[in-house]
Amino acid sequence: SRPANAAGKKSKSAKAGQRFRSQAWFDNPANADMTALYIERTMNFGLGLEELQSGRPIIGIAQSGSDIAPCNRHHLVLAERMREGIRDAGGIAFEFPLHPIQETCKRPTASLDRNLQYLSLVEVLYGYPIDGVVLTTGCDKTTPAQIMAAATVDIPAIALNSGPMLNGWYEGQRTGSGTIVWRAREMMAAGEIGYEGFLKLVASSAPSTGHCNTMGTASTMNALAEALGMTLPGSAAIPAPYRDRQEMAYMTGKRIVEMVRENLKPSDILTRAAFENAIIVNSAIGGSTNAPIHLNAIARHIGVPLSNADWEKLGYKVPLLVNLQPAGEYLGEDFYRAGGVPAVVAELVAKGKIQPALTVNGKTLIENCEGHFASDRKVILPYNKPLKKDAGFLNFSGNLFDSAIMKTSVITPEFRQRYLENPADPMAFEGRAVVFDGPEDYHKRIDDPKLKIDAHCVLFMRGVGPIGYPGAAEVVNMRPPAYLLKKGITALPCIGDGRQSGTSGSPSILNASPEAATGGGLALLKTGDRVRFDLKKRSANMLVPDEELARRRTELEKAGGYAYPPSQTPWQEIQRGMVDELSNGMVLKPAVKYQ
Ligand code: FES
Ligand code: MG
Repeated sequence: SRPANAAGKKSKSAKAGQRFRSQAWFDNPANADMTALYIERTMNFGLGLEELQSGRPIIGIAQSGSDIAPCNRHHLVLAERMREGIRDAGGIAFEFPLHPIQETCKRPTASLDRNLQYLSLVEVLYGYPIDGVVLTTGCDKTTPAQIMAAATVDIPAIALNSGPMLNGWYEGQRTGSGTIVWRAREMMAAGEIGYEGFLKLVASSAPSTGHCNTMGTASTMNALAEALGMTLPGSAAIPAPYRDRQEMAYMTGKRIVEMVRENLKPSDILTRAAFENAIIVNSAIGGSTNAPIHLNAIARHIGVPLSNADWEKLGYKVPLLVNLQPAGEYLGEDFYRAGGVPAVVAELVAKGKIQPALTVNGKTLIENCEGHFASDRKVILPYNKPLKKDAGFLNFSGNLFDSAIMKTSVITPEFRQRYLENPADPMAFEGRAVVFDGPEDYHKRIDDPKLKIDAHCVLFMRGVGPIGYPGAAEVVNMRPPAYLLKKGITALPCIGDGRQSGTSGSPSILNASPEAATGGGLALLKTGDRVRFDLKKRSANMLVPDEELARRRTELEKAGGYAYPPSQTPWQEIQRGMVDELSNGMVLKPAVKYQ
């Protein structure tokens, strides 16, 4: 039988006789045989008939942790506290597994699976007797995937992350997840450390259970889940092993039961105002370049218009307040002690930057955070004395692509001096393009002297978008050749149709859409072409005459388009057939109409 779609009545408080969605399964005399069948099998893990028919809300715990998803593995522990909260508030917990996603192990790339976890969670939430759900977020894609699913099904949902790992340390220095890898590979290329030293240095950054402790994509997406209003206030930054996180798990379990009784749904929370708040918070925390992809995707699934142009318009002028790696120096424990997301939002509220959008606790973001200023000003800086001004993303377009973003908060002084301080043209840079077709090509040739890469070249990485790679690889941040690193040139501009890790401090122009694989301008570029980027005009162009571009286009079409490797799994092929560009959130196109 078709389950009832509505979750209870529209009511802001618990009402006697309130009927929930799950009762269409467990208490449905009109369909007695199906009811009996649901009940007898659900009971076999020990639930009583009376419990199932008591009309208590059934709360799903979407379990993302497992041995192959270590960033989220702590949820196996936290789920126990969630269950206790759910039970104490009068609900019944149904924990179920999600398709696992682990950022650093999954081949070809974890982002291939974001839409798969999304799809599978939609099916569970829609097809089973669940009145509300706790989303157990953490590792990069697990946060957007689950919020996207909650948006599609629109039943009451609350998120809780696994929490960042404790700070990493090596010889008295903080070593942050991911960020240390980019530093260590430069050290190894320059001959300062060997393979063993490289591994040791990187391992030091992961001292406990939890997700990345830098402001990489995981901490970013969880901070933004809080800014969107999808978590209890103050929850995103609590380090995984802290006892406060156990308490937060308990309160999250309690709260979702109340949300079901109040029928407080994602569509009440994920409004345009909430997304605008999140974009502003993203600039202030120095958030990942993956955030626009994922937030644009969530917005599409809930039916709110949102584009990369909005990211620049709303976010660019916001200063960087959070001094966390990769843009700054501290790590997750420091961020939590300084006050976490509420302390950042408090600064923004004081400047009138935040709108009163509703959150899961029934109060607005402003009510939750106003006045909760930071306790450590080295970690969370005041709005008037930020780490950097204008810390948001710029949105570029031109004959190379229609949209690509640049994270300006990670531009180093050295980079600025080399590229942006030509007095005649202070906001633009030009260079010779060096083009790589995918990461294998880059690894093979980056140190090849024949490419004649010098300090004024621009590195391109193409064929790594949602269709080309497939799934859009995090490979746009390329290191310069070893011979330049030895001369102290640590970064060259990198441009590409893929992504880069949120833990990377590379001033890349990335997420370029359309990608080379669908015939975007990048497919026409050749090594040796002059390219020009103007940060003031936000333009990105190859300085190649139009007739020559038309000739290359004809040639490309004759060759059957930009070549990319065949799919290796059924899912790769299915997704390639229906996935949208990065600027449109990399969503599955047929999925967005289900709202
Ligand atoms: Fe999973 Fe960073 S690799 S959180
Ligand atoms: Mg990543």
